[in-house]
Amino acid sequence: NRRIILDCDPGHDDAMAMMLAASKLSNLKLEAITTVAGNVDVEKNTNNALRLCDLLGLNDVPVAKGAAQPLVRKMKAAAHVHGKSGLDGTTLPDKPIKQIINQHAVDLIIEKIIDSDGDITIVPTGPLTNIALAIRKEPKIIPKIKEIVLMGGGTYGNRTPAAEFNIYVDAEAAKIVFESGVPIEMFGLDVTHQALATSDRMKEMSDINNPVAAAVMQMMNFYSRIYKGKLGFTRAAVHDPCPVAYLIDPTMFEMERVRVDIETKGEFTYGMTCVYTNGMTDRVPNANFARTLNQDKFWDLFIRSLKSYS
Ligand code: BDR
Ligand code: CA
Repeated sequence: NRRIILDCDPGHDDAMAMMLAASKLSNLKLEAITTVAGNVDVEKNTNNALRLCDLLGLNDVPVAKGAAQPLVRKMKAAAHVHGKSGLDGTTLPDKPIKQIINQHAVDLIIEKIIDSDGDITIVPTGPLTNIALAIRKEPKIIPKIKEIVLMGGGTYGNRTPAAEFNIYVDAEAAKIVFESGVPIEMFGLDVTHQALATSDRMKEMSDINNPVAAAVMQMMNFYSRIYKGKLGFTRAAVHDPCPVAYLIDPTMFEMERVRVDIETKGEFTYGMTCVYTNGMTDRVPNANFARTLNQDKFWDLFIRSLKSYS
């Protein structure tokens, strides 16, 4: 089993990433769940992570609360996408049974990586603040992180025309991570916008009869309404499950070796990920960039995972 730390800001699609990682079909061992300010503030994101652990039966996985603010800039949340609670639309109990551990996320990440045999993969599905802080606080972790498999960036944006939300919230942190030398697999909007919840797939999900599927359906319904309404999509794009799906079955993605630089200065382009594809630069490639997704394989995995909770 591949060991992972999920660093997230749940978040409807973060919740779906947790669902995939925790399902009976998953070959992943969740070492920890760490939270960060992103979709909403870190308190709410953490509360949501705990509620989701209760739902998914993740009683033994430590949850640690992380950074409350980006490294340099002011916090910019996404309550317009995920609602005030960060997870609007569900009937999950407001108060979780599970509690956070008494250790900061950054310290838990450092401890887990240092104690490992270099076999832990970090899966960030929110802003990269915790990961950058961990790298800065204890650079000895750099050669020991197996890989960082993240949702973020793209060749275009969603928070601004240039920038994707996770990178836009903390581009200084993203720059530290992309320049760290740790192997990176990047799942940006180019590929996550191919993970579209069609009405056929929504129908299949709604036919599954277990509490996890019911909760995911509530989230999907809320999230789809937002995507189809104010975001102007025809279907919801489920971003954050992509890196997790890749770890479970890499054959559903086509990857390309690229150089990625993070824009931290631009007046209009702050948070842009400049993706240099073949031949554009002589500089050392620093990421594998996901280009295409096999949607059938993705949704088959997603739906079989949901069924595995029955
Ligand atoms: C990313 O932004 C967040 O709102 C989602 O959870 C996802 O991680 C997509 O841009
Ligand atoms: Ca997220």
